[in-house]
Amino acid sequence: MDKQISQAVIRRLPRYYRYLGELLDDGVERISSNDLSKRMHVTASQIRQDLNNFGGFGQQGYGYNVAYLHDEIGNILGVNETHNVIVIGAGNLGQAIAGYVKFERVGFKIIGLFDVNPELKGKLVRDIPVQMLDELPEFIKHNDVEIAALTLPKSNARSTALKLVSLGVHAIWNFAHVDLDDIPDVIIENVHLSDSLMQLSYNITQQK
Ligand code: NAI
Repeated sequence: MDKQISQAVIRRLPRYYRYLGELLDDGVERISSNDLSKRMHVTASQIRQDLNNFGGFGQQGYGYNVAYLHDEIGNILGVNETHNVIVIGAGNLGQAIAGYVKFERVGFKIIGLFDVNPELKGKLVRDIPVQMLDELPEFIKHNDVEIAALTLPKSNARSTALKLVSLGVHAIWNFAHVDLDDIPDVIIENVHLSDSLMQLSYNITQQK
């Protein structure tokens, strides 16, 4: 895509994708920006502005074709193709992520789960066995791993990220509370649930 899309718009796209997916499930074939705006609680002009970034997809007097728009946003987000994911750290969070089946529905297939604790070796989470970290190089050699989720203690996160990059994994979904953004040749997406909680706390405080 030639045009640079702002990160703010990109951050809103998954929500459009989710709502359009629900409309598809409900058998809705087309929707006006006004109706979509009521459902999503954003203004119709915001929707038009956001989607105009990608050529609009809408037709005057017709609205949006739900399947087409869903598919196009899926293409933009790159979720119409499968991304293989491994999870490093098979504790509470790692097992919860590996156990969640619906990531696959949006294109993320968890194909491996790794830990250093020998007690976890072979434990099945869904149908995925926990493997030991020393099996990782061989696994990566034989599987097309695109993304690694880091759900291990922060003290081990940086060394593990560096190892992953050296093994050819260039996208990290980082849950450890440590900044890894300075590591070269890797795309990092940090997830901090506590940030979201603090946002909630702020809004509660404002309301008081
Ligand atoms: P946990 O203690 O249940 O699991 C951590 C697992 O990592 C253990 O099984 C441990 O053996 C394994 N591990 C340690 N070093 C490793 C290495 N070098 N390679 C592979 N595995 C290794 O902890 P929990 O609750 O699952 O949390 C995991 C991490 O996620 C922690 O860093 C925690 O702070 C963080 N966290 C982040 C959240 C977020 O919103 N970003 C929310 C909850 C936890």
